[in-house]
Amino acid sequence: MLTHAITANPTYEFAADVRAGLTKPGQKELLSKYLYDDVGSALFEVISVLPEYGLTRADERLLRRHARDVVDRLSLPVAVAELGSGSGKKTRWILEALGRRQRTRYYPIEISSTALAMCERELRDIDSISILGCEREYLDGLLEVAADRRRGQYLLILFLGSTIGNFDRPAGVRFLQEVRHILMPGDAMLLGTDLEKSNAQLLAAYDDELGVTAAFNLNVLARINRELGADFALDQFEHVARINREARSVEMHLRSRRRQTVTIAASELMVEFQGDETIWTESSHKYSSEEVFQLARDAGFRCEAQWVDQQWPFAESLLVAE
Ligand code: AVJ
Repeated sequence: MLTHAITANPTYEFAADVRAGLTKPGQKELLSKYLYDDVGSALFEVISVLPEYGLTRADERLLRRHARDVVDRLSLPVAVAELGSGSGKKTRWILEALGRRQRTRYYPIEISSTALAMCERELRDIDSISILGCEREYLDGLLEVAADRRRGQYLLILFLGSTIGNFDRPAGVRFLQEVRHILMPGDAMLLGTDLEKSNAQLLAAYDDELGVTAAFNLNVLARINRELGADFALDQFEHVARINREARSVEMHLRSRRRQTVTIAASELMVEFQGDETIWTESSHKYSSEEVFQLARDAGFRCEAQWVDQQWPFAESLLVAE
């Protein structure tokens, strides 16, 4: 009982994850999900409108252009669950197209309560959609949604914005397999993946001129200061974006500008950084459009259709559980 009470405490989990990541031999790391507190989610909304960062606009264009086509390919009746809804803005097109066919339950699953509130406000005007927000991590939320499923009702999972790119390739397959285990044959997933593009384009997108991505990245240290009583000096760390050729990803790191020691009270930790040593905070893996078909098969889906944006290479793929 007590163990459960302790592990279910989010601050304790955060403190334990920070401790594990910063005491790792070799590359120090922080889990990228911790970038997305309320401040981080708001900063990401700004990133998504930067001229250098075309990803969100490409995702939105595809959803707007092909929403009807997506809905035409679904087995109905269907309820919709979204993994990481964010503001919910780009989800409108699918929900409007579905709302013309049937009354629809929409379950945004989101760890930021502010993002969830924004999403509810953004989408509440759409006819025949009821919004049932779920402030949980993805798989916990999905289990809850699946338990609420009506007889004969299919599920459509929205996993947009290339969030899957935050996993390395094997972990991406495993995650989709876990999702697949919660689903039934005929259920579907609309999966957004950012496609490979030039290093110059990627570096500009992940290290923008205004420094919004830098602020987004540094916020994780500010958050550790706020929530775990740490003393990171933010001006002693620098945002770095780098290409990982083997992994086919862009990585974000925070580089220590000098040798320094940081204390993190709630993690009961004093951690030393060498000058130039980095903390790896996020990877964004880039896919080829063909690769998504194999990814789908490996996870127990078939890729039913795919739409690609030419302006900013990005793919929307409709996977159906087999
Ligand atoms: C929200 C995960 C899609 O990887 O491009 C943007 C997050 N990080 N700029 C991405 C992000 C830095 C973003 N995703």
